[in-house]
Amino acid sequence: MNVVVTTVQKPSPDVVAEAALLAARLGAPLAEREKTSLAALRERYRVNHIVVASKAGPIVHTPGGEYFFHLSLAELRIKNLINGNPDHMTAAMDLKAGMTVLDCTLGLATDAIVASFAAGPEGAVLGLESSPVIAAVTSLGLKRHDSDEEAVTAALRRITVEQADYNEYLADLPDKSFDIVFFDPMFRIPIRASSNLKPVRFLADQRPLTSEAVREACRVARHRVVLKEAQRSPEFARLQFPSVMGGKYSSIHYGIIETGD
Ligand SMILES: C[S@@+](CC[C@H](N)C(=O)[O-])C[C@H]1O[C@@H](n2cnc3c(N)ncnc32)[C@H](O)[C@@H]1O
Repeated sequence: MNVVVTTVQKPSPDVVAEAALLAARLGAPLAEREKTSLAALRERYRVNHIVVASKAGPIVHTPGGEYFFHLSLAELRIKNLINGNPDHMTAAMDLKAGMTVLDCTLGLATDAIVASFAAGPEGAVLGLESSPVIAAVTSLGLKRHDSDEEAVTAALRRITVEQADYNEYLADLPDKSFDIVFFDPMFRIPIRASSNLKPVRFLADQRPLTSEAVREACRVARHRVVLKEAQRSPEFARLQFPSVMGGKYSSIHYGIIETGD
């Protein structure tokens, strides 16, 4: 893989141990940092990405900038739900406490965290992520990151992460094994031209969702299959989502296929 793992300069023993685990998990070389610059490491190993283990978790240096775990809008969206305001994604899922969600495109898990909060302790969220680097960063972040809000931290800890390609994973699942199957693929057409340069674009699996995967998702979902896409995206029609919902002024909309009860 196009990546080398190292540590911050003057790492603690825990950080050194974590770098070794990350290198083994990613099948990547482990470089002792000492005083070496990241530019020199990139040159020496001829890689694009450097995973730097640090006390706060891994930071991935990509040609598009740094990629690391953070809560993004999850806390704000959960506070909105606590205050009784709607969230377009959980509304599109018709997500209720106790339900199970398969998030096929976990990424940084912002959506999965909101889903995990809404599904509550009786529910469950399983996140699939095919990019090994993203899966590693997110699974460590979900295990370690603490929010000031206890309910948010609990929602993070309840999410299970699998490094897997949803095309293969869905095909192996029994019929009706999750209430909701959710897709948030990399937008085919980035909303802003600058999004092309974002660090995630260098790490993520950019393959489009296929009709075959949607068919499998319909078999697996007891209640709904939901697709998150840009407003007016041609993907909704191409993948035959009969209804689309979202805020009038929101750039994001949700395609919905009802699959049963
Ligand atoms: C737009 S991001 C998802 C963001 C996520 N909803 C969040 O809240 O952070 C899409 C993610 O899906 C992953 N992905 C794309 N195709 C995949 C596949 N076939 N199997 C598993 N993950 C996939 C990408 O690597 C990327 O991390």
